Amino acid sequence: MSITTVVGTQWGDEGKGKVVDLMAGKADVIVRFQGGNNAGHTVIVNDDKFELHLIPSGILYAGKKAVMGGGMVVDPQALLEEIDGLKERDINFDNFFISDAAHLVLPYHLVLDRLEEEMRGPENLGTTSRGIGPAYVDKAARRGLRMGDLLHRERLASRLKAALNYHNRILEKAFNQEPFSYQEVFNSLWEAGRRLAPYITNTALLLDRWREEGKHIFFEGAQGTLLDIDHGSYPYVTSSTTVAGGVCHGAGIGPGRIDQVIGVTKAYMTRVGEGPFPTEDKGEQGKKLREEGHEYGVTTGRPRRCGWLDVPLLRHACRVNGIDILALTKIDVLSGHREIKVATAYRVDGEEIFEMPTDTDLLGRCEPIYETLPGWEGNLSQVKEYSDLPENARRYIEYIEGKMGLPIKLVGVGAERNQVILRGDL
Ligand code: GDP
Ligand code: IMO
Ligand code: MG
Repeated sequence: MSITTVVGTQWGDEGKGKVVDLMAGKADVIVRFQGGNNAGHTVIVNDDKFELHLIPSGILYAGKKAVMGGGMVVDPQALLEEIDGLKERDINFDNFFISDAAHLVLPYHLVLDRLEEEMRGPENLGTTSRGIGPAYVDKAARRGLRMGDLLHRERLASRLKAALNYHNRILEKAFNQEPFSYQEVFNSLWEAGRRLAPYITNTALLLDRWREEGKHIFFEGAQGTLLDIDHGSYPYVTSSTTVAGGVCHGAGIGPGRIDQVIGVTKAYMTRVGEGPFPTEDKGEQGKKLREEGHEYGVTTGRPRRCGWLDVPLLRHACRVNGIDILALTKIDVLSGHREIKVATAYRVDGEEIFEMPTDTDLLGRCEPIYETLPGWEGNLSQVKEYSDLPENARRYIEYIEGKMGLPIKLVGVGAERNQVILRGDL
């Protein structure tokens, strides 16, 4: 298979970074296609921990090409900080490319993200406050600035003036805030642009060339299916297309070119931010999952809400992404639970339903109907062969395969790059 997409099947933080990093060993090109620095992807290599927010996980391998696609929204200051941090750790940027079509997250987007959250009051979304939503709003409203604008001083000046003309009015009149100084924003943006310019290019063209040369290309999804703007638990979602289809417009590649979609699933579920979570466990078991799984946000440090695997949600994810194979992470974290619960259906308004409702209010009222599987004991972190897993762990894995009708070809048993069990060829 030469073109593969890796997506999250839950509310993000499934371990996509680790799975992509692992597979990047076999890839030539690794591409992010949506989202921004709301993402936080952890990769651990020989005790060295990397936390990536904007840059594709493939950057950690020398010689691989790392691409930030046009569907992303990029905060230039945050990107420069990330580049500098990685360069200090001897990561090489000779093969790094940023799409000229990617939109910019600008200082007023950060302010608006905060103000809009405050305005929502108790109905707030719990965003990462990275300006992601307001930046995508500007993109759709055709008032956004793009990476390519950073290459042209006059154009940058006029587009920024137009955008600030709009945003300063909103900030002053609707929110009673100080306006942004055009000159200050321009100066720091132009300066950032000078440093980023060598990487900015037409990445869709490059991707097509590399595809024709037979290069192995990996698309690295950020967030997860249930945070997708259309297929997630709207409005408690992010503002981009996180599902596999997002690769096409986010990277500029035709749907028929994609050979394989890998869905990353955590062995239990987590969510950071607000919104319904039918299988959330607010009791001792949920706490145990949080502590043993170190479930704290990479981007914001917030504790993640924890709960049990949810078959209707997972089936929805497999369907809307067209998932071919699953990667199951963090099975090691479930060790020591006497019983493991899995929701197979919901009870809502006196009825039993088996599929995830599109209506988020209805999803919020769903009471999970659980099946209980026997747990297992022991530290799995050094297990290398599938047959060496405890019988009940294998039973759990095969149970999920049965429910999804898909093979689980990769099983994560620890955070390190090599703490993984591969089952057959990927
Ligand atoms: P992402 O956003 O999907 O890339 O995931 P995050 O990096 O936000 O969160 C996943 C966390 O789980 C990170 O701390 C990873 O280092 C860790 N992790 C990934 N796979 C495994 C695994 O199989 N076992 C354990 N124990 N930790 C894992
Ligand atoms: P990775 O790629 C988990 C959540 C936020 C909030 C909602 C909207 O690491 O899996 P936004 O700032 O995007 O407008 O916030 O989406 N969210 C994530 N949750 N992992 C992520 O990324 C997330 N990116 C956004 O918590 O609920
Ligand atoms: Mg994350």
